[in-house]
Amino acid sequence: MNKRVLLGVSAGIAAYKTPDLVRKLGELGAEVQVILSKNADQFVAPLSLQAVSGHAVHSHAMTAESESGMGHIDLARWADIVLIAPATANIIARLCQGNADELLTTVCVATEAPIAVAPAMNQQMWQNAASKTNMSTLASRGVHILGPDAGEQACGEVGLGRMLQPADIAARVGGLFQNTSLTGKRVMITAGPTWEALDPVRGITNHSSGMMGYALAQAAIEAGAEVTLVTGPTHITPPSRAETVNVISALDMHAAVMNSIDQQDIFIGVAAVADYRPIDTAAEKIKKNAEQMTITMVKNPDILADVANLQKPPFCVGFAAETNDVVDYARGKLERKKLDLIAANHVGGSETGFGTPDNAITLISQNDVIELPKQNKSALARILIAEIAKAYTKI
Ligand code: C5P
Repeated sequence: MNKRVLLGVSAGIAAYKTPDLVRKLGELGAEVQVILSKNADQFVAPLSLQAVSGHAVHSHAMTAESESGMGHIDLARWADIVLIAPATANIIARLCQGNADELLTTVCVATEAPIAVAPAMNQQMWQNAASKTNMSTLASRGVHILGPDAGEQACGEVGLGRMLQPADIAARVGGLFQNTSLTGKRVMITAGPTWEALDPVRGITNHSSGMMGYALAQAAIEAGAEVTLVTGPTHITPPSRAETVNVISALDMHAAVMNSIDQQDIFIGVAAVADYRPIDTAAEKIKKNAEQMTITMVKNPDILADVANLQKPPFCVGFAAETNDVVDYARGKLERKKLDLIAANHVGGSETGFGTPDNAITLISQNDVIELPKQNKSALARILIAEIAKAYTKI
């Protein structure tokens, strides 16, 4: 990302993560300058930001001195993108109003560059009606909304409103400048685990978090595709611009995929679909009367193989999560399921695979093997989408 990012830091607790954000943006090749909003220096030291960005930090005040250096118009012109992270409820409201009451808001009014915000606030504040209206106003003006994520908050509450992690924000900002390799293409992605019910409260599932599939959906959207995301139950938020179809079981997922597969150009099966399901689902909660119980399972349909074996299949990409002999097993699947590409990854270690932010992948086609080293799943997804687009246009 050979781009200039003007990072606006507003006064929220997540500001302490911004030196890391500057570093992550720098690792992607961006040049970063920082504007601190009023009181943001209570949450992060300007000197830290100066050290990691390599530029003097701009304070909120528009003084004669600051305007004689790189003033608000120069900064507005300098930026390829203005990124506000963390974006508090207050700064979001002021952006909606078009306020120009301090340097950061003034630059936002003055710039022609795209603006992205990474909201960070208490979950109740995020759900507040005014915040919701403000977010839709910004979205309707083309402001890129990055997150927020769900989870534990600084105030001790749990819910939506946490700022995305710095690496994720950096990857998404990078993605905004990605090429348009999939413009006009329709991409369907399955993601997450499936849940195979035993009774109304219990079921069989796996550790898939949905992160890799959601990251691919986001990357495909950024590459211009229209994305349908068919997802099993997860705890993370799907990309807002994907058409998301929520499913529970493998049979549900199969039906949802088949429902519109004939309209797709590319199918990417990332979901960790349960291979088997209990033959029966008890209508009521199973009682623990017996010392032992046996569950008879039947095989689920292989969604990816069914798609790849259609008379007119889309370009099919599979994932192979293995604990050993990863590449050999993946190659076997490529052949057996008649896939165009397969992304093989090693699961079972603690650093990559299920539930971890990073992943490493070997991408295998009939003629090529490409190693994609360990990195954040968002960054990896962007590279994968670029490779998929390249392979797709070759056929
Ligand atoms: O055979 P295996 O389950 O290892 O293959 C993994 C690939 O197949 C993944 O892309 C996964 O999404 C897909 N799959 C599927 N339906 C199944 C099992 C796996 O779509 N029932």
